[in-house]
Amino acid sequence: MHVAIIMDGNGRWATQRGLPRTAGHVEGAKAVRAVVEAAARADLGTLTLYAFSAANWTRPAGETSALMRLFGQYLFTETRRCVEQSIRLNVIGRRDRLNGNLLRSIEQSERLTAGGNGMHLRVAVDYSSQRSIVEAARRACGHADLDPEGFMRLLQEVDHGTPPAGEVDLLIRTGGERRLSDFLLWECAYAELHFAECLWPDFGEAHLRAALDDYAGRQRRFGGVAARDPRATRGEGA
Ligand code: FPP
Repeated sequence: MHVAIIMDGNGRWATQRGLPRTAGHVEGAKAVRAVVEAAARADLGTLTLYAFSAANWTRPAGETSALMRLFGQYLFTETRRCVEQSIRLNVIGRRDRLNGNLLRSIEQSERLTAGGNGMHLRVAVDYSSQRSIVEAARRACGHADLDPEGFMRLLQEVDHGTPPAGEVDLLIRTGGERRLSDFLLWECAYAELHFAECLWPDFGEAHLRAALDDYAGRQRRFGGVAARDPRATRGEGA
């Protein structure tokens, strides 16, 4: 099962407490650690976390640099834990705008966790689904026989998605907003959506379990009339 999470609400969590927004991100990073462990315990196949969108570069420089520092620290402290838990870590998104130190940490974490055969953890940094789709479409030119699976492979290539991940089964967004914010637009074609009111730093194992329970109660039809495997022939419609 592939679960993707839009981790929203760090800023509001901090503001409600009279703290700077960056304090919310620090607390958000603690929630990331807890949720990754809970997801591995829940036996998820793939967990994709939206950590930084391409549009987030428009935030004040102090906030973006604090976030980049947090990603670096996360990789530094969590890589060993991932290795111990057989979690394979992969950062998706653009890499040409990340600083050299962070880039080296990403490459090192990916190399050290590459043998993990447990959960596949993907962290989206400087990610824009629209940009990835446009870039994949550009690479698809001249391949008239390309099918959706082939296009998906191109997308993964564009996103540095190694190993490839399948389509999203469940998309969770915290923080009460109900939008996709340019996240995995292609991969979420048939995803079930779960919107949680709680702010990301407050999200924990119980909330993840509640989302998974909600998902378990959904009937997925993939455009057909009865539940069936998503990779079987797809019909049209919702
Ligand atoms: C959106 O909430 C959150 C982000 C842009 C950053 C997400 C970062 C983390 C969860 C922490 C670090 C991540 C890792 C992987 C170590 P917001 O700040 O827009 O919240 P708001 O809507 O309340 O302002």
